[in-house]
Amino acid sequence: MNDLEKYIIAHSSPRGEALEWIERQTHLRTKFAHMLAGFEAGRLLETFSRMLRPHRILELGTFTGYSSVCLAAGLPEGGRLDAVEINDELEDVIREGYRRAGIEDRTRLLIGDCKAVIPTLDEVYDLVYIDANKREYPEYLALLMGDSPGGASPKVRQGSWIIADNVLWDGKVYGEHPKGDPQSRGIIAFNEAVAADGRLENFILPLRDGLNIARVL
Ligand SMILES: C[S@@+](CC[C@H](N)C(=O)[O-])C[C@H]1O[C@@H](n2cnc3c(N)ncnc32)[C@H](O)[C@@H]1O
Repeated sequence: MNDLEKYIIAHSSPRGEALEWIERQTHLRTKFAHMLAGFEAGRLLETFSRMLRPHRILELGTFTGYSSVCLAAGLPEGGRLDAVEINDELEDVIREGYRRAGIEDRTRLLIGDCKAVIPTLDEVYDLVYIDANKREYPEYLALLMGDSPGGASPKVRQGSWIIADNVLWDGKVYGEHPKGDPQSRGIIAFNEAVAADGRLENFILPLRDGLNIARVL
């Protein structure tokens, strides 16, 4: 952790015990702790959720549940978070984290592939957080907007918010020589699709690895 991050954490309200537990478990049980939203992005998601008070939240790519707990912070009475994760080996740690955060009765964990799960969802979401397979971001967007060839209904409405993580991809998506690997290509295509879509208003916040924050018009 650098001095700036230490300063920010020292001068921000502390996060709860559940998030600390999830972060510890992530380090103990996986080799990919860098995938966690972490303190700053997590606090931002929590802040958005508290400001928006969304009734229905969809999370694509749950990992160990850190961002779920942040997103669920602003759910009103009767609200629900649907969380989609492909890796069933993470299910027990996700569920225990939800229990510790006291959100298990407001969350529905859907183990499966986002591309298969999204068309089956019979909901319209107020807030969607995209953080699953970077190669597939454009397909998630098409499914959410109701543009996919299968003809499933849109999962967002006028006034919904779509937030996608890692859209600057460590700098590999801009500059003279954007990288041609599949993940960079996926994110480049996603950012272009969002910017070109007249139904969306967006901007990219350069926090951590970049968040693309879009409102459905
Ligand atoms: C960057 S991590 C998510 C981190 C999490 N949102 C957080 O902040 O704590 C990406 C997750 O997406 C999952 N994933 C990748 N492809 C997926 C897919 N097609 N459908 C569902 N989950 C997927 C991975 O297994 C991984 O757990």
